[in-house]
Amino acid sequence: MIRFALFGCGRIGRMHADNLAAHPEAALLWAYDVHGPSAEAVAEKHGCKAAGSVAEVLADPAVEAVLIASSTDTHVELITAAARAGKAILCEKPIDLDIAKVDACWNEIGPLGVPIQIGFNRRYDPSFNAVQKAIRAGEIGDLRQVIITSRDPGLAPREYLQTSGGIFRDMTIHDFDMARWLLGEEPVEVTATASRLVDPGLMADVDDFDTVMVQMRTASGRQCHINGCREAVYGYDQRFEIFGSLGMLQNENLRPTTVRRWGRTETEVQEPLLNFFLERYAEAYRIELDLFLQALETGGAMPVTPHDGRQALRLADCALESALSGRAVAV
Ligand SMILES: NC(=O)c1ccc[n+]([C@@H]2O[C@H](COP(=O)([O-])OP(=O)(O)OC[C@H]3O[C@@H](n4cnc5c(N)ncnc54)[C@H](O)[C@@H]3O)[C@@H](O)[C@H]2O)c1
Repeated sequence: MIRFALFGCGRIGRMHADNLAAHPEAALLWAYDVHGPSAEAVAEKHGCKAAGSVAEVLADPAVEAVLIASSTDTHVELITAAARAGKAILCEKPIDLDIAKVDACWNEIGPLGVPIQIGFNRRYDPSFNAVQKAIRAGEIGDLRQVIITSRDPGLAPREYLQTSGGIFRDMTIHDFDMARWLLGEEPVEVTATASRLVDPGLMADVDDFDTVMVQMRTASGRQCHINGCREAVYGYDQRFEIFGSLGMLQNENLRPTTVRRWGRTETEVQEPLLNFFLERYAEAYRIELDLFLQALETGGAMPVTPHDGRQALRLADCALESALSGRAVAV
């Protein structure tokens, strides 16, 4: 049984609290949020304590691990404090928006040897995982191309977009991690374009883009294409296609059921796609926690490391640089 504290009780923090409470080998002792009522709501739901400060939580020797699900700009500070207190860390992506801060953080806490996992949950999605295993097992021969489609169902609110760090570092960062994981090799060159097609006025106000295309190349010449958009009217579109010398792998979007309906005017009508990440990746978040606990219990390696978090951020930075400069960027 590993005893946890949760930092951040917002949208994803509440989901993590539910998963911690439901896991037979985890116990949630504390919830903390700068917005007190959010922590109190989690504490009431799960019968844990609402903390008044980070220090109060980290001073409790019963706490063995922290789950950081607070706003991105707080991650480095909380990771550093938790590592100094000797707690294991499961931290949501991205580590930070500034790679210099990420590097300074690892330089300080790396020597402490605290187990850390970064929340790139998509690696644990059962379908994506099966595809990655098939690639590594050589089912499609020599890998040639990875094509990732990643579209959100709708634009996030202005307040979110203002502090998100931009589409590449906030949203496409998941796809950069997927790309590295599927390619099995580091991209060495990134070319990207970025447009304001969904809401040009809002995007100009928040100095961001809503529609992007990225191309990457590895040292051996393998190619990856990512297309992303902050709005798809038909729902949360999460697919990829992997092409190799011996074949191709594809995964489909998930729906609540597999029922298809035929009528007078339409055929093969299916239910809408699972809407957005909490539903689409529910299983992946549970497996993420499970593998974190397993690694702590066995002393084994964490499945997604701080290095993975840094590399995805590096690719996001290169993509933004390419989109702004119109040039290919060496990683
Ligand atoms: N892996 C994924 O699929 C995924 C999905 C969504 C969000 N995220 C990440 O999770 C994090 C939270 O996102 P969200 O959508 O839940 O945001 P949110 O705004 O709903 O929640 C963030 C919470 O953090 C709290 N907070 C702010 N500063 C704090 C601090 N210093 N200490 C403790 N709590 C603090 C806020 O009061 C808020 O309740 C972000 O880093 C985001 O990128 C990951």
